[in-house]
Amino acid sequence: MKQFKVKIVSSGATFTVNEGETVLTAALRQGVMLPYSCKNGTCGSCKGRLESGDVHYPFHPPLALTREDIAGGAALLCQAEPTEDLVIHAREIEAVRDLHVRKMPVRVTEKTLLAPDVMRLKLKLPAAQRLQFLAGQYVEIILSGGKRRAFSIASPPHREDEIELHIRHVEGGGFTGWVFDELKERDILRIEGPLGTFFIRHDTSERPMILMGGGTGFAPLKSMVEDLLLHNNQRPLHLFWGVRNQAELYMSEQALDWAAQNDHIRFSTALSELDAHDGTRDSFHGFVHEAVLEQYKDLSGFDIYMSGPPAMIDAGRAAFLENGAEKRRIFFDSFEFGLDVPVRVLARPH
Ligand SMILES: Cc1cc2nc3c(=O)[nH]c(=O)nc-3n(C[C@H](O)[C@H](O)[C@H](O)COP(=O)(O)OP(=O)(O)OC[C@H]3O[C@@H](n4cnc5c(N)ncnc54)[C@H](O)[C@@H]3O)c2cc1C
Ligand code: FES
Repeated sequence: MKQFKVKIVSSGATFTVNEGETVLTAALRQGVMLPYSCKNGTCGSCKGRLESGDVHYPFHPPLALTREDIAGGAALLCQAEPTEDLVIHAREIEAVRDLHVRKMPVRVTEKTLLAPDVMRLKLKLPAAQRLQFLAGQYVEIILSGGKRRAFSIASPPHREDEIELHIRHVEGGGFTGWVFDELKERDILRIEGPLGTFFIRHDTSERPMILMGGGTGFAPLKSMVEDLLLHNNQRPLHLFWGVRNQAELYMSEQALDWAAQNDHIRFSTALSELDAHDGTRDSFHGFVHEAVLEQYKDLSGFDIYMSGPPAMIDAGRAAFLENGAEKRRIFFDSFEFGLDVPVRVLARPH
C-alpha cells in the first residue's frame, strides 16, 4: 500500500498517511492531535496550510474552503488525502493527547422529554471501562452499517458511571427520529469517544469567557460550567443561550441557579421567534449572537466558546471577529449532520 509522509512545521511531528486515508484520520491514529469538529468538511475547524506537497478531496468537495483559501495553500485536513509527501502548518492540541478514544456499549437508563423536540438520554457506562473526557467533548453513536451520529456530552467528567446527552429531533432525521419514536429505556447503544477539541483552554488563558449555545448547543456548555464549578474556578463567564421560544429553554432553572449562587457567572437568554404569548421580558428578542453584541461592544478581551447549529456558529464567528474578538480565542463545535448525509443537504442552510 502506498504511504505518504506528513511533517508539521511548528512541532516537527511526523506521521504517515495510507493511500485513501485523510490527513486528520492518520494524525489522530498516530497520536498527533489536530483540531477538528464536524469531520465532514463543513465547519472549517481542521483548516491547515500546505507548505509543500499536494492533496485531493475524493469524498465531499471542501465546503468550508473558498477558492481564495485553496489558492493561499489552505487544506481541510478532515477531507484532504495526500497525493504526495506533505509539509503542513497546523496547530496541535496538547490537552486531549493523553485521552484514550474507546468504543463501548452503553445502556439507556433514562429517556426524558425535556422540551417538545429535545430528549435527554442517560447512558450507563460498562463497569469495567472508563470514559475519560474533557468537558465540552462529544461521543459518536455507532449505527448499523457503520454510520455515526455525534452528540456532545452534557454531564461533567466527574460523573464516571453515566453520561447524559441532549438530542434534538431533526426533521426527517433517521437516528434522532428513531430515538424519539422507538428507542426504549434499557436498550443498548454503541458509542465511541471522547472526541473533538472543544474544551476550555485553561493553560493558555485566564481571560473572561463568553459561552454561547444555540438549542442543544447548551449541552457541552452545561458540562463545562459544572466542571468549572466543581473545581471552584472563579474565571468570569457569561453564558448565553439562544432558542426559538421559551419552551426550548429546557434547563434555564439550573442556569439561573448557577448565576444566582456565583458572582462570577452571568446567564442571558435570546428568543428568535417573536411570539407575543411568550411573556418573557427577560430574554433578548433576536439571534443569540446579537444578544452577546448588545452587551459587549468590544470582544477583544474575551475567550469565546460556541456550540450549536452551523448557521449560528457562522453568524457568531463573523460578527465577533468584526467586534474585536481574536480568531485564535474563538472555539466552537458546529452541530453538523453526519458524514453520510448528501453534500447537497449539507450545503443548504439548516
Ligand atoms: C461535534 C458535534 C456535536 C453534536 N452535538 C449534538 C448535541 O449535543 N445534540 C444534538 O441534538 N445534536 C448534536 N449534533 C448534531 C447531530 O449529530 C445531528 O443532528 C444528527 O447527526 C442528526 O442525525 P439524524 O440521523 O437524525 O439525521 P440524518 O438522517 O442524518 O438527517 C439530517 C438531515 O438531512 C436530511 N437528509 C438525510 N439524508 C437525506 C437524503 N438522502 N436526501 C435528502 N435529505 C436527506 C434529513 O431530512 C435531515 O434534515 C452534533 C454534531 C456534531 C458534529
Ligand atoms: S471541516 Fe474538517 S472538521 Fe469540520
